[in-house]
Amino acid sequence: MIIAVDGPAASGKGTIAKALARHYNLPHLDTGLLYRAVAATVRRLELDPSKEADAVAACGFDELTLADPVLRSDEIGQLASVVSAHPLVRAALLQRQKRFAHQEGGAILDGRDIGTVIAPDADAKLFVKATPQVRARRRHNELQARGSSLSFDRVLADIRARDQRDSARSTAPLIQAADAATLDTSFLSIDASVNKAIEIVEARV
Ligand code: C5P
Repeated sequence: MIIAVDGPAASGKGTIAKALARHYNLPHLDTGLLYRAVAATVRRLELDPSKEADAVAACGFDELTLADPVLRSDEIGQLASVVSAHPLVRAALLQRQKRFAHQEGGAILDGRDIGTVIAPDADAKLFVKATPQVRARRRHNELQARGSSLSFDRVLADIRARDQRDSARSTAPLIQAADAATLDTSFLSIDASVNKAIEIVEARV
């Protein structure tokens, strides 16, 4: 069973994907982390994220980078959405994700293009969304808990900028697959969101 979970930043897709992975005992890949690792490597090597060749050079990132807590920062998230718009960066990370999705026994992946590009053949596809205000509130709380002093307005502006970049790019933009079920988490608790996600998956497999 392959489950694809897509959606914009802070929509709840990561939390839902993790809970589904536990529920179905499936391996889970947060594909955003791969783009974040490229971004962190670009920064470490002092490369230019807007240059495709520079970003591609960072795709051979050290695997240990994936465990670095700095990947979760807002700054790296923004940089990730810059490097992820380069077609050659997406191509460099494609096979790894496809292999993960199609491993024996199944998998859950979350990201922006799982249902459309990585696993169009997924058994269940969810498109998780929430209003920009709700997503900014969640991200702001999360960042504050980690000691960040970014204002709510700044977080909201960053979320909108990232949505715009992720939706407007020409290669694998953030769009809902035609056969994906929508899950709006704006007014749902985490438990309610997860229960709804399980219901959707159950109805499709
Ligand atoms: O999901 P997360 O916020 O960690 O993703 C960081 C950035 O990586 C996104 O804003 C997006 O630009 C990029 N990304 C992507 N395709 C994916 C996952 C993430 O382009 N499948």
